[in-house]
Amino acid sequence: MNMTVKAWLVAGTFVGASALGVFAHAGATGIVKERMDDMTSMAQSVKSISDMFRAGAYDAAIIITGAQNMQAHAGQRLIGLFPEGSNSAASKAKDAIWSDWHAFSALANELSLLSIALDGVASQPATENSSADNGMGTSSSDMGMGASVNVTDPAALAQMSAEQVFGLATKTCSTCHTQFRVEK
Ligand code: HEC
Repeated sequence: MNMTVKAWLVAGTFVGASALGVFAHAGATGIVKERMDDMTSMAQSVKSISDMFRAGAYDAAIIITGAQNMQAHAGQRLIGLFPEGSNSAASKAKDAIWSDWHAFSALANELSLLSIALDGVASQPATENSSADNGMGTSSSDMGMGASVNVTDPAALAQMSAEQVFGLATKTCSTCHTQFRVEK
């Protein structure tokens, strides 16, 4: 497990996103390729932050770098990479993106907001002193819409630990993928 993670990181760091991209999305060109590269870059940030948490050696710089990279690829930037109907054969984008554009763009903006919040809380002491237990929410109801309430409130996010905000951010990635990305 650890070796796999390390190999991934090494590939990401030294080979670079574009080389990984060639491996990951054969046949993609133009804007589809561009957004896949963006997504891959965000995935690298997520990977380095989660590896850091897993290693138990808190490092604000890793969080800040990753959060800023995610923010650069979220929001309007992400939205602009999904012009209507841009799901060619190589793409895994669902038609639902354009029939449910409001929900799609809301998730892109939510990721932007969470990345900004993550950047902001990174330098706070990494104490696990909040009422919630380390993950998101304390009850099963929080796994659904409950967590999204905090997402829209920067003041509430500012009270959370970096790990909690990071958890919400990665949850936004998977929520969007579940709704708007097909498994081909
Ligand atoms: C607003 C929706 C949305 C959000 C938020 C989002 N993604 Fe994606 N992601 C997509 C869609 C749609 C695709 C498929 C794009 C395509 O194939 O054209 C995708 C594809 C990907 C891919 C595959 C890229 C490839 O090489 O084919 C990765 C990796 C990925 N996303 C990671 C992330 C990570 C990490 C985050 C959060 C930090 C994230 N995504 C946030 C919608 C989203």
